[in-house]
Amino acid sequence: MKILRGAGITTTVGCIALLSACGQSDAPSGAAQTQNESVQTQAQTPAAQPAATPAASQPDRAAQLERGRYLVETIAGCGNCHTPHNPDGTLNQEMAYAGAYVITEPEFVAYAPNITPDMETGIGSWSEEDIVHALRNGIRPDGRVLGPPMSFPWYRRLSDTDAYAIAAYIKTVPAIRNEVPRSEYHIPLEGYGPIVTSVPDVPRDDPVRYGEYLAGPVGHCMDCHTTLVMGRNDMAQLGRGQNVFRQPFNMPWTAIAANITPHEDGIGGWTDEEIKRAITQGVSRDGRQLLPFMPFELYDDIEERDLDAIVAYLKSIPPLPTIPPAQ
Ligand code: HEC
Ligand code: HEC
Repeated sequence: MKILRGAGITTTVGCIALLSACGQSDAPSGAAQTQNESVQTQAQTPAAQPAATPAASQPDRAAQLERGRYLVETIAGCGNCHTPHNPDGTLNQEMAYAGAYVITEPEFVAYAPNITPDMETGIGSWSEEDIVHALRNGIRPDGRVLGPPMSFPWYRRLSDTDAYAIAAYIKTVPAIRNEVPRSEYHIPLEGYGPIVTSVPDVPRDDPVRYGEYLAGPVGHCMDCHTTLVMGRNDMAQLGRGQNVFRQPFNMPWTAIAANITPHEDGIGGWTDEEIKRAITQGVSRDGRQLLPFMPFELYDDIEERDLDAIVAYLKSIPPLPTIPPAQ
Protein backbone atom coordinates (compact mmCIF):
# COMPACT_ATOMS: atom_id res chain seq x y z
CA MET A 1 0.00 0.00 0.00
CA LYS A 2 1.20 3.43 -0.85
CA ILE A 3 0.17 6.88 0.12
CA LEU A 4 -0.21 9.24 -2.75
CA ARG A 5 1.45 12.53 -2.37
CA GLY A 6 1.96 15.30 -4.84
CA ALA A 7 5.68 15.17 -4.65
CA GLY A 8 5.66 11.39 -4.86
CA ILE A 9 6.47 11.05 -1.22
CA THR A 10 5.83 7.71 0.39
CA THR A 11 5.65 7.62 4.12
CA THR A 12 7.66 4.91 5.68
CA VAL A 13 7.55 6.27 9.18
CA GLY A 14 7.34 9.32 11.20
CA CYS A 15 5.01 11.98 12.23
CA ILE A 16 3.78 13.77 9.32
CA ALA A 17 4.78 17.12 10.28
CA LEU A 18 7.40 16.11 7.90
CA LEU A 19 5.02 16.51 5.13
CA SER A 20 3.31 19.59 6.33
CA ALA A 21 6.75 21.05 6.44
CA CYS A 22 8.31 19.70 3.29
CA GLY A 23 9.64 22.56 1.25
CA GLN A 24 7.02 24.85 2.69
CA SER A 25 7.41 28.02 4.62
CA ASP A 26 3.91 28.52 5.99
CA ALA A 27 2.18 27.35 9.10
CA PRO A 28 -0.68 24.89 8.56
CA SER A 29 -3.44 26.66 6.73
CA GLY A 30 -7.12 26.80 7.45
CA ALA A 31 -8.23 26.21 11.01
CA ALA A 32 -4.73 26.44 12.38
CA GLN A 33 -4.20 29.70 10.60
CA THR A 34 -7.26 31.29 12.10
CA GLN A 35 -6.08 30.18 15.51
CA ASN A 36 -2.85 31.92 14.77
CA GLU A 37 -4.21 35.41 15.15
CA SER A 38 -2.81 36.04 18.58
CA VAL A 39 0.62 34.71 17.71
CA GLN A 40 3.08 37.57 17.59
CA THR A 41 5.71 37.47 14.95
CA GLN A 42 8.38 39.78 13.77
CA ALA A 43 9.70 40.29 10.31
CA GLN A 44 13.15 38.83 10.54
CA THR A 45 15.40 36.68 8.52
CA PRO A 46 15.40 33.06 9.61
CA ALA A 47 18.85 33.52 11.05
CA ALA A 48 17.72 36.27 13.41
CA GLN A 49 18.07 35.78 17.11
CA PRO A 50 15.05 35.21 19.31
CA ALA A 51 13.52 38.24 20.93
CA ALA A 52 13.62 39.02 24.63
CA THR A 53 12.43 36.14 26.73
CA PRO A 54 9.53 35.99 29.10
CA ALA A 55 11.29 33.20 30.99
CA ALA A 56 12.50 35.52 33.70
CA SER A 57 8.96 36.55 34.45
CA GLN A 58 8.10 32.95 35.37
CA PRO A 59 7.79 33.24 39.15
CA ASP A 60 7.62 29.63 40.15
CA ARG A 61 10.46 27.59 38.76
CA ALA A 62 9.28 24.35 40.36
CA ALA A 63 5.82 24.74 38.86
CA GLN A 64 7.38 25.57 35.50
CA LEU A 65 9.53 22.44 35.58
CA GLU A 66 6.57 20.32 36.58
CA ARG A 67 4.53 21.73 33.71
CA GLY A 68 7.43 21.02 31.35
CA ARG A 69 7.83 17.49 32.65
CA TYR A 70 4.13 16.82 32.26
CA LEU A 71 4.02 18.05 28.66
CA VAL A 72 7.27 16.44 27.50
CA GLU A 73 6.58 13.08 29.18
CA THR A 74 2.94 12.80 28.12
CA ILE A 75 1.09 14.68 25.45
CA ALA A 76 3.98 16.40 23.66
CA GLY A 77 5.70 13.04 23.37
CA CYS A 78 9.17 14.36 22.48
CA GLY A 79 10.66 11.01 23.42
CA ASN A 80 8.69 9.25 20.72
CA CYS A 81 11.35 10.50 18.30
CA HIS A 82 14.23 11.64 20.51
CA THR A 83 14.43 8.46 22.62
CA PRO A 84 15.50 5.26 20.85
CA HIS A 85 12.94 2.47 20.67
CA ASN A 86 13.56 -1.07 21.87
CA PRO A 87 12.99 -3.87 19.38
CA ASP A 88 9.49 -4.38 20.85
CA GLY A 89 8.59 -0.76 20.15
CA THR A 90 8.80 0.48 23.73
CA LEU A 91 11.10 3.38 24.61
CA ASN A 92 14.66 2.73 25.82
CA GLN A 93 14.51 4.95 28.90
CA GLU A 94 18.21 4.48 29.64
CA MET A 95 18.85 6.56 26.55
CA ALA A 96 16.02 9.02 27.17
CA TYR A 97 16.20 11.98 24.80
CA ALA A 98 19.67 11.01 23.55
CA GLY A 99 18.54 10.26 19.95
CA ALA A 100 18.41 8.92 17.39
CA TYR A 101 15.34 7.74 15.65
CA VAL A 102 16.14 7.70 11.94
CA ILE A 103 13.43 8.65 9.49
CA THR A 104 14.17 7.84 5.87
CA GLU A 105 12.13 9.38 3.09
CA PRO A 106 12.94 10.04 -0.54
CA GLU A 107 13.38 13.68 0.51
CA PHE A 108 15.55 13.15 3.55
CA VAL A 109 17.30 11.00 6.07
CA ALA A 110 16.46 12.67 9.37
CA TYR A 111 18.08 11.82 12.70
CA ALA A 112 16.28 12.98 15.83
CA PRO A 113 19.21 14.61 17.65
CA ASN A 114 20.45 14.18 21.19
CA ILE A 115 18.48 16.79 23.16
CA THR A 116 19.93 15.94 26.56
CA PRO A 117 22.13 18.62 28.19
CA ASP A 118 25.37 16.86 27.20
CA MET A 119 27.74 19.68 26.26
CA GLU A 120 29.36 18.00 23.29
CA THR A 121 26.81 15.69 21.76
CA GLY A 122 23.59 17.21 23.09
CA ILE A 123 22.22 20.71 23.52
CA GLY A 124 23.92 21.53 26.83
CA SER A 125 25.25 24.80 25.47
CA TRP A 126 21.83 26.00 24.33
CA SER A 127 19.89 28.52 26.43
CA GLU A 128 16.22 28.04 27.11
CA GLU A 129 15.54 30.82 24.61
CA ASP A 130 17.52 28.88 22.02
CA ILE A 131 15.36 25.80 22.61
CA VAL A 132 12.13 27.80 22.37
CA HIS A 133 13.34 29.45 19.16
CA ALA A 134 14.20 26.02 17.73
CA LEU A 135 10.82 24.58 18.72
CA ARG A 136 8.62 27.37 17.41
CA ASN A 137 10.67 28.63 14.48
CA GLY A 138 12.71 25.57 13.54
CA ILE A 139 15.96 27.50 13.74
CA ARG A 140 19.09 26.38 15.61
CA PRO A 141 21.35 28.86 17.45
CA ASP A 142 23.83 28.54 14.57
CA GLY A 143 21.12 29.74 12.19
CA ARG A 144 20.58 26.41 10.45
CA VAL A 145 16.93 25.71 9.64
CA LEU A 146 15.69 22.42 11.08
CA GLY A 147 13.75 20.03 8.91
CA PRO A 148 10.90 17.53 9.15
CA PRO A 149 9.46 15.40 10.62
CA MET A 150 9.41 17.50 13.78
CA SER A 151 6.09 19.36 13.82
CA PHE A 152 7.40 22.92 13.57
CA PRO A 153 4.29 24.19 11.73
CA TRP A 154 2.23 23.09 14.74
CA TYR A 155 4.74 24.01 17.45
CA ARG A 156 4.60 27.63 16.25
CA ARG A 157 1.49 28.05 18.35
CA LEU A 158 3.00 26.73 21.60
CA SER A 159 2.36 29.36 24.26
CA ASP A 160 5.27 31.15 25.89
CA THR A 161 4.39 29.46 29.18
CA ASP A 162 4.48 25.99 27.68
CA ALA A 163 7.39 26.47 25.29
CA TYR A 164 9.59 27.78 28.10
CA ALA A 165 8.37 25.04 30.45
CA ILE A 166 9.36 22.41 27.90
CA ALA A 167 12.76 24.07 27.41
CA ALA A 168 13.35 24.34 31.16
CA TYR A 169 12.51 20.68 31.71
CA ILE A 170 14.61 19.41 28.81
CA LYS A 171 17.60 21.14 30.38
CA THR A 172 17.15 19.06 33.55
CA VAL A 173 17.08 15.56 32.06
CA PRO A 174 20.25 13.48 32.59
CA ALA A 175 23.01 14.39 30.14
CA ILE A 176 23.87 11.41 27.96
CA ARG A 177 26.80 11.28 25.62
CA ASN A 178 25.60 10.02 22.25
CA GLU A 179 26.85 11.28 18.93
CA VAL A 180 24.04 11.54 16.39
CA PRO A 181 24.73 12.01 12.69
CA ARG A 182 23.52 15.14 10.99
CA SER A 183 20.29 14.85 8.99
CA GLU A 184 20.43 15.10 5.22
CA TYR A 185 17.66 16.89 3.37
CA HIS A 186 17.25 16.90 -0.36
CA ILE A 187 14.52 19.51 -0.12
CA PRO A 188 15.02 23.22 0.53
CA LEU A 189 14.55 24.19 4.17
CA GLU A 190 13.43 27.78 4.18
CA GLY A 191 11.89 28.20 7.58
CA TYR A 192 8.30 28.10 8.72
CA GLY A 193 7.05 31.65 8.28
CA PRO A 194 7.52 34.91 10.17
CA ILE A 195 9.56 34.50 13.36
CA VAL A 196 7.27 33.79 16.31
CA THR A 197 8.24 35.89 19.31
CA SER A 198 5.31 35.54 21.69
CA VAL A 199 2.20 33.39 22.05
CA PRO A 200 -0.36 33.97 24.81
CA ASP A 201 -1.83 31.18 26.93
CA VAL A 202 -5.00 29.52 25.70
CA PRO A 203 -7.65 29.73 28.44
CA ARG A 204 -8.12 26.36 30.11
CA ASP A 205 -11.70 27.15 31.09
CA ASP A 206 -12.72 26.92 27.43
CA PRO A 207 -12.51 23.15 26.83
CA VAL A 208 -12.95 23.26 23.05
CA ARG A 209 -10.27 25.91 22.54
CA TYR A 210 -7.92 24.37 25.04
CA GLY A 211 -8.57 20.94 23.55
CA GLU A 212 -7.68 22.32 20.13
CA TYR A 213 -4.46 23.67 21.58
CA LEU A 214 -3.59 20.32 23.17
CA ALA A 215 -4.50 18.25 20.12
CA GLY A 216 -2.74 20.66 17.76
CA PRO A 217 0.28 22.69 18.88
CA VAL A 218 1.13 20.59 21.96
CA GLY A 219 0.31 17.01 21.04
CA HIS A 220 0.11 17.28 17.26
CA CYS A 221 -2.60 14.59 17.24
CA MET A 222 -3.99 16.53 14.31
CA ASP A 223 -0.71 16.27 12.46
CA CYS A 224 -0.92 12.46 12.24
CA HIS A 225 -4.71 12.48 11.98
CA THR A 226 -5.24 15.18 9.33
CA THR A 227 -5.17 13.93 5.76
CA LEU A 228 -2.15 14.85 3.72
CA VAL A 229 -2.58 16.40 0.31
CA MET A 230 0.48 17.31 -1.70
CA GLY A 231 2.54 16.47 1.35
CA ARG A 232 0.79 18.88 3.71
CA ASN A 233 -1.99 18.57 6.28
CA ASP A 234 -5.17 19.50 4.39
CA MET A 235 -7.05 21.45 7.04
CA ALA A 236 -10.32 20.88 5.12
CA GLN A 237 -9.83 17.22 6.08
CA LEU A 238 -9.02 17.89 9.72
CA GLY A 239 -9.11 14.64 11.67
CA ARG A 240 -10.11 12.51 8.71
CA GLY A 241 -6.88 10.52 8.96
CA GLN A 242 -5.97 7.81 6.45
CA ASN A 243 -2.30 8.72 6.37
CA VAL A 244 -0.28 5.55 5.96
CA PHE A 245 2.81 4.88 8.08
CA ARG A 246 4.83 2.02 6.78
CA GLN A 247 7.01 0.11 9.22
CA PRO A 248 7.39 2.93 11.73
CA PHE A 249 10.30 2.38 14.14
CA ASN A 250 11.19 -0.51 11.86
CA MET A 251 8.21 -2.42 13.15
CA PRO A 252 6.85 -5.09 10.81
CA TRP A 253 3.49 -3.45 10.23
CA THR A 254 1.76 -0.53 8.55
CA ALA A 255 -0.37 1.85 10.59
CA ILE A 256 -3.13 3.98 9.10
CA ALA A 257 -4.19 7.05 11.06
CA ALA A 258 -7.82 6.67 12.05
CA ASN A 259 -10.70 9.02 11.25
CA ILE A 260 -11.22 10.83 14.56
CA THR A 261 -13.92 13.24 13.42
CA PRO A 262 -17.41 12.93 14.98
CA HIS A 263 -18.72 11.19 11.84
CA GLU A 264 -20.09 7.65 12.24
CA ASP A 265 -17.01 6.49 10.30
CA GLY A 266 -14.92 8.12 13.04
CA ILE A 267 -15.72 8.59 16.71
CA GLY A 268 -19.35 9.64 16.20
CA GLY A 269 -21.41 7.54 18.59
CA TRP A 270 -18.46 6.75 20.85
CA THR A 271 -18.87 7.63 24.51
CA ASP A 272 -16.38 10.02 26.09
CA GLU A 273 -14.96 7.08 28.04
CA GLU A 274 -14.42 5.06 24.87
CA ILE A 275 -12.55 7.95 23.26
CA LYS A 276 -10.40 8.41 26.36
CA ARG A 277 -9.65 4.69 26.51
CA ALA A 278 -8.43 4.78 22.91
CA ILE A 279 -6.15 7.73 23.69
CA THR A 280 -4.67 6.45 26.95
CA GLN A 281 -4.79 2.67 26.52
CA GLY A 282 -4.83 2.18 22.78
CA VAL A 283 -8.05 0.20 22.78
CA SER A 284 -10.52 0.91 20.00
CA ARG A 285 -14.27 1.01 20.59
CA ASP A 286 -14.67 -2.63 19.55
CA GLY A 287 -11.89 -3.73 21.90
CA ARG A 288 -9.23 -4.01 19.20
CA GLN A 289 -5.73 -3.18 20.44
CA LEU A 290 -4.36 -0.24 18.44
CA LEU A 291 -0.89 -0.35 16.95
CA PRO A 292 1.58 1.49 19.15
CA PHE A 293 2.37 4.05 16.50
CA MET A 294 -0.59 5.80 18.10
CA PRO A 295 1.48 6.89 21.14
CA PHE A 296 -0.95 5.77 23.85
CA GLU A 297 1.98 4.64 26.00
CA LEU A 298 2.89 8.28 26.50
CA TYR A 299 -0.72 9.42 26.74
CA ASP A 300 -1.44 7.15 29.69
CA ASP A 301 -0.70 9.94 32.16
CA ILE A 302 -2.59 12.77 30.47
CA GLU A 303 -4.66 14.50 33.13
CA GLU A 304 -8.41 13.83 33.14
CA ARG A 305 -9.22 17.49 32.60
CA ASP A 306 -6.97 17.62 29.56
CA LEU A 307 -8.58 14.45 28.18
CA ASP A 308 -11.99 16.06 28.66
CA ALA A 309 -10.79 19.09 26.69
CA ILE A 310 -9.43 16.93 23.86
CA VAL A 311 -12.69 14.98 23.68
CA ALA A 312 -14.73 18.21 23.68
CA TYR A 313 -12.57 19.51 20.84
CA LEU A 314 -12.75 16.32 18.78
CA LYS A 315 -16.54 16.36 19.07
CA SER A 316 -16.59 19.96 17.81
CA ILE A 317 -14.76 19.45 14.52
CA PRO A 318 -16.70 18.87 11.27
CA PRO A 319 -17.76 15.22 10.82
CA LEU A 320 -16.19 13.69 7.72
CA PRO A 321 -16.68 10.25 6.16
CA THR A 322 -13.64 8.08 5.71
CA ILE A 323 -12.04 8.01 2.28
CA PRO A 324 -9.71 5.00 2.24
CA PRO A 325 -6.10 5.76 1.37
CA ALA A 326 -4.97 5.39 -2.22
CA GLN A 327 -3.45 2.00 -2.91
C1 HEC B 1 8.24 13.32 14.88
C2 HEC B 1 9.52 13.19 15.52
C3 HEC B 1 9.90 14.30 16.51
C4 HEC B 1 9.19 14.74 17.62
C5 HEC B 1 7.83 14.25 18.13
C6 HEC B 1 10.00 15.77 18.22
N1 HEC B 1 11.14 15.95 17.51
FE1 HEC B 1 12.63 17.29 17.92
N2 HEC B 1 13.57 16.79 16.19
C7 HEC B 1 13.23 15.75 15.36
C8 HEC B 1 14.19 15.68 14.26
C9 HEC B 1 14.20 14.66 13.15
C10 HEC B 1 15.10 16.74 14.46
C11 HEC B 1 16.30 17.10 13.57
C12 HEC B 1 15.89 17.97 12.40
C13 HEC B 1 17.10 18.32 11.55
O1 HEC B 1 18.10 17.61 11.61
O2 HEC B 1 17.03 19.34 10.83
C14 HEC B 1 14.68 17.42 15.68
C15 HEC B 1 15.35 18.50 16.24
C16 HEC B 1 15.12 18.99 17.52
C17 HEC B 1 15.93 20.00 18.17
C18 HEC B 1 17.20 20.63 17.59
C19 HEC B 1 18.41 19.89 18.13
C20 HEC B 1 19.67 20.12 17.35
O3 HEC B 1 20.74 19.75 17.86
O4 HEC B 1 19.61 20.65 16.24
C21 HEC B 1 15.39 20.22 19.40
C22 HEC B 1 15.89 21.18 20.48
C23 HEC B 1 14.23 19.37 19.51
N3 HEC B 1 14.10 18.63 18.35
C24 HEC B 1 13.41 19.29 20.62
C25 HEC B 1 12.19 18.60 20.65
C26 HEC B 1 11.24 18.70 21.72
C27 HEC B 1 11.44 19.49 23.00
C28 HEC B 1 10.17 17.93 21.36
C29 HEC B 1 8.84 17.77 22.09
C30 HEC B 1 8.12 18.99 22.34
C31 HEC B 1 10.47 17.34 20.06
N4 HEC B 1 11.71 17.77 19.67
C32 HEC B 1 9.63 16.47 19.37
C33 HEC B 1 12.15 14.90 15.53
C34 HEC B 1 11.14 15.06 16.46
C1 HEC C 1 2.34 9.53 15.49
C2 HEC C 1 1.03 9.61 14.90
C3 HEC C 1 -0.16 9.76 15.84
C4 HEC C 1 -0.32 10.68 16.83
C5 HEC C 1 0.64 11.77 17.29
C6 HEC C 1 -1.64 10.45 17.37
N1 HEC C 1 -2.24 9.40 16.74
FE1 HEC C 1 -4.11 8.66 17.14
N2 HEC C 1 -3.79 7.11 15.89
C7 HEC C 1 -2.68 7.00 15.03
C8 HEC C 1 -2.83 5.78 14.26
C9 HEC C 1 -1.86 5.28 13.22
C10 HEC C 1 -4.04 5.16 14.69
C11 HEC C 1 -4.63 3.85 14.21
C12 HEC C 1 -3.92 2.70 14.86
C13 HEC C 1 -4.52 1.37 14.47
O1 HEC C 1 -5.40 1.33 13.60
O2 HEC C 1 -4.12 0.37 15.06
C14 HEC C 1 -4.62 6.05 15.70
C15 HEC C 1 -5.80 5.79 16.38
C16 HEC C 1 -6.47 6.72 17.19
C17 HEC C 1 -7.78 6.53 17.77
C18 HEC C 1 -8.64 5.28 17.65
C19 HEC C 1 -9.62 5.40 16.53
C20 HEC C 1 -10.31 4.09 16.21
O3 HEC C 1 -11.17 4.11 15.32
O4 HEC C 1 -10.00 3.06 16.82
C21 HEC C 1 -8.09 7.70 18.43
C22 HEC C 1 -9.39 8.01 19.18
C23 HEC C 1 -6.94 8.58 18.30
N3 HEC C 1 -5.98 7.95 17.56
C24 HEC C 1 -6.86 9.84 18.85
C25 HEC C 1 -5.65 10.54 18.97
C26 HEC C 1 -5.46 11.70 19.82
C27 HEC C 1 -6.55 12.40 20.60
C28 HEC C 1 -4.14 12.05 19.73
C29 HEC C 1 -3.38 13.14 20.48
C30 HEC C 1 -3.54 13.18 21.92
C31 HEC C 1 -3.53 11.13 18.79
N4 HEC C 1 -4.46 10.22 18.36
C32 HEC C 1 -2.21 11.19 18.39
C33 HEC C 1 -1.62 7.88 14.93
C34 HEC C 1 -1.38 8.95 15.79
